Amino acid sequence: MCGIVGYIGQQDAKKILINGLKKLEYRGYDSAGIGLLNQSGVHVFREKGRIADLEAIVDWNITASVGIGHTRWATHGEPNRENAHPHQSASGRLTLVHNGVIDNYEKLKEQYLAGVQLKSDTDTEVIVQLVEVFIGEGLEVAEAFRKTLSLLHGSYAIAMIDAETPDTLFVGKNKSPLLVGLGEGFNVVASDAMAMLQVTDQFVELMDEEIVLVKKDAITIETLDGKMVKRDPFTAELDASDIEKGTYPHYMLKEIDEQPAVMRKLVTAYRDDNGDIKLDSNIREAVKAADRLYIIAAGTSYHAGLVGKQLLERIAGVPTEVHIASEFAYNMPLISKNPLFIFISQSGETADSRGVLVHVKKLGFKTLTITNVPGSTLSREADYTLLLHAGPEIAVASTKAYTAQIAVLAILSVATAEAKGLQPKIDLMKELSIAANAMQTLVDQKEMIEDIARKYLSTSRNAFFIGRAVDYYVALEAALKLKEISYIQAEGFAGGELKHGTIALIEKGTPVIAIATQFHVNGNIRSNLKEVTARGAHACIVSMEGLNEAADQIVLPEVHDLLTPLVSVVPLQLLAYYAALHRGNDVDKPRNLAKSVTVE
Ligand code: AGP
Repeated sequence: MCGIVGYIGQQDAKKILINGLKKLEYRGYDSAGIGLLNQSGVHVFREKGRIADLEAIVDWNITASVGIGHTRWATHGEPNRENAHPHQSASGRLTLVHNGVIDNYEKLKEQYLAGVQLKSDTDTEVIVQLVEVFIGEGLEVAEAFRKTLSLLHGSYAIAMIDAETPDTLFVGKNKSPLLVGLGEGFNVVASDAMAMLQVTDQFVELMDEEIVLVKKDAITIETLDGKMVKRDPFTAELDASDIEKGTYPHYMLKEIDEQPAVMRKLVTAYRDDNGDIKLDSNIREAVKAADRLYIIAAGTSYHAGLVGKQLLERIAGVPTEVHIASEFAYNMPLISKNPLFIFISQSGETADSRGVLVHVKKLGFKTLTITNVPGSTLSREADYTLLLHAGPEIAVASTKAYTAQIAVLAILSVATAEAKGLQPKIDLMKELSIAANAMQTLVDQKEMIEDIARKYLSTSRNAFFIGRAVDYYVALEAALKLKEISYIQAEGFAGGELKHGTIALIEKGTPVIAIATQFHVNGNIRSNLKEVTARGAHACIVSMEGLNEAADQIVLPEVHDLLTPLVSVVPLQLLAYYAALHRGNDVDKPRNLAKSVTVE
């Protein structure tokens, strides 16, 4: 999942493209490149690594009012300069950037490119070489572009420049997100509005299998089979300042700190003037009517879904299953008669989840997306959407979106219970406000948590998080956070399961962090911790006020026992943050990862 940008207008494109790529770097940062077109031809600059590395090699004397750019998350071919985008056709006439995966690129290579010497290991280069081959067979560039795209199987967001057609950007979209930004005397393309808020807030959404001829003063959208498309622009609600780090050293720390405010914002967004829950009645009825709920998600969103299952079953009494999207897509369980599919996705672009959504829609099932990005693919394509109102989440490691997802699932649970005529035994808005205050207390204890990170995690190569009941789900999330930014091998475990094998990994000094917020299993989890300390583990307990003991390292302010993940996860997010910081890792852009996974 890469990020692409394009500009055609009167201004110098370089700065606009590079600033745009900086806003898309969360999508991939293995390599970067730009292609500029001016009277003297096409100028391509590509470098391994970050946008900053690209900036260091760009010839800033070159000016051009047409250009494309790319930041890469490697799928085909290792991260190096040869595999960096833009890729050029054999003659150098065509230059192209691409986000997505072409599944049939090898077949196309055999069928059409036998005589063409490819310069990279990428699937992308096949696209630009194909266009040139079809031009060679007599097609106009636009027709050669269309023919090529009609042969591609897979996902793509593409921008191409042609040295012989300097007044046009050739753009195509299928599955991967892509927008056209509209301006006075210029137009742009971008994988995400954030990249071009610097020049416009007017964007046109592109749908699958569409191509666009983008000129500086006009855009023409057509379907791949030639039908003209008219579509009104939308105004991006985002404000450029929303995505600034401010005085924070990292977006992750800023986003952890924003959680209390996000909780309060959610209470306001989902409460009406009478203090009751404000939620689209169609959604209430859809959940009420369902005989079974299927939560589909990936990564941290999947972990929030596990907590959501408990909330929907305990509060609303609706049987709920939670599935990893990439597994569900190819290993579908038996589906009930009247299911409702709930997709949880911060970005709203995760390809694994979207693949399931497209499939269950074809089966005629109703779908609801819970996302942080209005207008995202999973939101647009679902029947219903619930927003997280968490503000842009830039750091790759998801934090505020996780707690916001749990809060929205709790709100959905109470709304459904009310729709079913049940009396939910929780004054949710009051309890969410209490949780917001408790989160504030915890984010204000950073130093103490940093000391614990130094004491328990500074030298360890592995770590275990254990919990029972809902704390087990939080242990899974805590382990993911630690793994993805500190690169410490970590696992989240059901406390009672350790003795069935994994306890063999416990040796002198192995950090084991237990989460104890549930009264009914408090004794059990403390016995599990004694089992590992007996084998030399370096034990740490995160417990809830009222269940705590004197020696407990982190004590959480008390909140409703159905909402404890909202507070227990906060010190665990901070532990991961400091463990990564102490190792000098790039906390916001950890290796091998990207914020929005738009390839399967
Ligand atoms: C979490 O920190 C990771 N960034 C990743 O696991 C993420 O949760 C997953 O890719 C799902 O993303 P989504 O919520 O945007 O669908």
